[in-house]
This record gives sequence, structure tokens and C-alpha cells, in this order.
Amino acid sequence: MASLYIPVWVLLTQILMHFAKTGAKVPAIIVFGDSSVDAGNNNVISTLLKSNFQPYGRDFFGGRPTGRFSNGRIPPDFISEAFGLKPSVPAYLDSMYSISDFATGVCFASAGTGYDNATSDVLNVIPLWQEVEYYKEYQNKLRAYLGRRKANRVLSGALYLVSLGTNDFLENYYIFPQRQSQFTVEQYQDFIVGLSGNFLREIYSLGARKISLTGLPPMGCLPLERSTNLFGHECVEDYNKVALEFNGKLKGLVKKLNEDLPRLKLVFTESAYDAIYQIIKKPTSYGFDVARVACCSTGTFEMSYLCSKINPLTCTDANKYVFWDAFHPTERTNKIIVDNIIGLLLKEFNN
Ligand SMILES: *[C@@H]1O[C@H](CO)[C@@H](O)[C@H](O)[C@H]1NC(C)=O
Repeated sequence: MASLYIPVWVLLTQILMHFAKTGAKVPAIIVFGDSSVDAGNNNVISTLLKSNFQPYGRDFFGGRPTGRFSNGRIPPDFISEAFGLKPSVPAYLDSMYSISDFATGVCFASAGTGYDNATSDVLNVIPLWQEVEYYKEYQNKLRAYLGRRKANRVLSGALYLVSLGTNDFLENYYIFPQRQSQFTVEQYQDFIVGLSGNFLREIYSLGARKISLTGLPPMGCLPLERSTNLFGHECVEDYNKVALEFNGKLKGLVKKLNEDLPRLKLVFTESAYDAIYQIIKKPTSYGFDVARVACCSTGTFEMSYLCSKINPLTCTDANKYVFWDAFHPTERTNKIIVDNIIGLLLKEFNN
């Protein structure tokens, strides 16, 4: 008989744990940015920068190419899962999903975009201001779906992931003369940090309170940039230096905004840069064989339509490669990056 007896405190603990799980601290993940976090919004716009075809997505659920620029999942997917939400965050413009799906996670990001309007013009993708317009439309839909009070609770409790900036430098500043004639690279960094501040203040004014901001990766080590380096395809250290300087300035912005804006919790995921840099410098320590070139095709310049299924050179096991195409990490790299920052995010936001 004694073995059937369940102490009251065990029941209570179980009930409390149940509530802790279902009464999610972060009810939704809301994503702004570029290809580092785009879940497929570019599929429905007229741009050449797409990835909704094989071999993209071959390691995603069902081997499905979704428009994510990887062989599998991207960081917001892993972050969503770690917060007890869905294992993938759907793209707002994907007609397969509706507001019932978006109520727990939605992605407004667009591959190729930047903080600078001139950057999104290059490949005709969604400018950041337009991502914000979609977010406003989403707010209205969410209020109609959940009711105003509940929707506002979701919007203020949600974790906002913001990840962009690389394209402002690599697709715009260093390629076209317009910005270079206006700004030195230091001045351009300041210009972009200013735009980042404007954007963060705007989503704050619309109700965002928990924001994770990601800076630039060691962008001189992306295979595409390495392949242009005539010195033995080493990382372009000048670009890495610019990225580190820029991240330092973003960190200053984050400190200021946290002081200026009441009840804002803005976290800068500073360790992402180092995590990626370590993986690239010591790939074998992380179980990778190759960091210099990407899995897809020759791995030196192909992405989007150039990374196609008919190319016989594409590697068979993407887990052995740090990069999937010449500009984007493999799923396994994405997972390691998230493993590196998730402790910080859970500590800061899951309350
Ligand atoms: C970018 O374009 C939008 C829409 O035309 C405009 O409202 C915004 O001021 C522009 N931003 C900058 C920094 O020029």
C-alpha cells in the first residue's frame, strides 16, 4: 500500500513544473535581419538571391528547401526550440503558414538586406524599414486573432532576434563607389550604428522589450572573401578588423539604449564572433574537416542559384564543413554558435 502513496508535495511540484513549462516566459520569437536568419521570405519576392531549391535544406525536416541559406536549420530555429517553442520559426511571407503559426514565432528577415537602404537595393530584397512595416501588419493580425490584451502580452514578452550588417559592408560599401565616396570605413561604421539605433528605438516604441542583437561575424573568413585574397586564400584580416571595430561600437549603442529606454532589455551576443572565429581557426577541434571552402560546389564562390543540385562537386557530408555555401554556415555550425550564446539568452530573457 505504501508504494501507491504519493506525497502531496510531489503532486504540487509536478503541477508547478507543468505551469512553468506551459506558461512560457517567452511566448514567441520574432526575427529581423538578413540571410543569417531568413527562413524563406525571399522565396516570394523578385530577387536572384534565393535558396528554395535543392541542395539547400537537404538536412532540414523532410529534406525540404525552405529558403533558409543552409543545409538545415538556422540560429532562430535552435533558439526557438531552446525556449520550449517550435523547432523552426516560419517566414512571414510563406503562404503555408498563418497567424496561428506566427503567434509563437515569425521571421521578417530577408537575405541580402542591410541597415542601409542602399544595401537592400543591390539585390532588390526587402529593406529593413519594410520588415518593420510587415511587423506592424503582424501586430494587427495578432490582435485580431488573440484579442488586444493577450496579443500585447505576446508582443512585449517575445524575444526579438536582430541579425544583420554584413551585407552593408561586403555587398555595398566595399563593392560600390557611392558610399565609399561619402564615408571612410570608420564613418560608415558610425552611420550603420546610427541606423541600428534608429531601428532598435523604433521596435521598442512598437512594444519590443526583450531584444538580442547580433553583430558582425569574422566576415573576412567567409569562403567568398577568402577566395578573393590572393595571399593563399587566407582570411581577409582587414575585414575582420572592421567587423570587430563595428561590434565594439554596437556594444556602446547597446549600453546607451539600455540606459535610455525604460524596461528595455537589450543583449548583445558578443561571443558569437569569437565562437565562429575559433571554429574557423581550429575546425578539427570541433569535428570539422574543412573551413577554408564551403560544401556546395567548389565552395569558393557559389551561393543561391550557383549552388545547384546538378553540381557534382557538392560534398556528401555537410557536417564535416564549417560553411555550407560561400557565404553561409552549415546547420552544424549554426548549432554550435547557438550553443555558445543560449545560456546567456535563457538567463537574460527566460523570466
Ligand atoms: C530608407 O527608406 C525609407 C522609405 O523610403 C525612408 O523612410 C527612410 O528614411 C530611409 N532611410 C534612410 C536612412 O535614408
